[in-house]
Amino acid sequence: MRQLKPYIVGNWKMNGSSADLAILKAIADAAGSDTGVDVGICPPATLIAAFAQSAGGVHIGAQDCHAKTSGAHTGCLSAAMIKEAGATFSIVGHSERRADQGETDADVAAKAEALHDAVLGAILCVGETLDERDSGNAIAIVTAQLAASLPQSASADWLSVAYEPVWAIGTGRVPVADDIAAMHAALRATLTDRMGAEGAGVRILYGGSVNSGNAAEILAIPDVGGALVGGASLKAETFLPIIQAAPR
Ligand code: 13P
Repeated sequence: MRQLKPYIVGNWKMNGSSADLAILKAIADAAGSDTGVDVGICPPATLIAAFAQSAGGVHIGAQDCHAKTSGAHTGCLSAAMIKEAGATFSIVGHSERRADQGETDADVAAKAEALHDAVLGAILCVGETLDERDSGNAIAIVTAQLAASLPQSASADWLSVAYEPVWAIGTGRVPVADDIAAMHAALRATLTDRMGAEGAGVRILYGGSVNSGNAAEILAIPDVGGALVGGASLKAETFLPIIQAAPR
């Protein structure tokens, strides 16, 4: 298996204010020049511009973007807008948006394509609900979700995937290592089916209750190429140990 540079990304969701610039600066000072790992933070859109100016080596991303370039879409932001603000990538297809905003796999693929058109990176999220896990069909469901959410122009230089079991997000529950390994192997197979050898270079992050206590074990699982971190990314003292736990 090819060793990919670990990618540790904080998703701040609907948290943070300009007072939290100090948190970004602490993260950038401690980890921004670490060449063994790529570090990203996705603050709320209101903070992208300020964060981008103080990011050092930390990549600043958005949490979502619209698929269209402009138009009558009140409250939405295009890929070009988040890029102008200073983002270099965006999350798309987070389960909270799939659930709260009813985003479909086709919507997610279109959003990822819009990011590619704007020369931005994407982290495309997939994951099963607890009912789907309990049904025994999680792998079939999540690989189908990825296949349907992958944009046409998917390639390893701009696209990453995040496996985030919905039932593990914010709950303190994490799948056993064997289940994470099995899902990541299946997602890898989906990527290489679609993209050929190129699919081997796409980083597949794990997300859902990653913290300083479990990061080393999770990041050592075969084909886990990084972590997408919610709650534990909101403070430097809980996020930095996760970055430090990345294998290199
Ligand atoms: P938690 O790390 O808070 O479980 O959130 C994970 C997540 O949804 C990241 O996108």
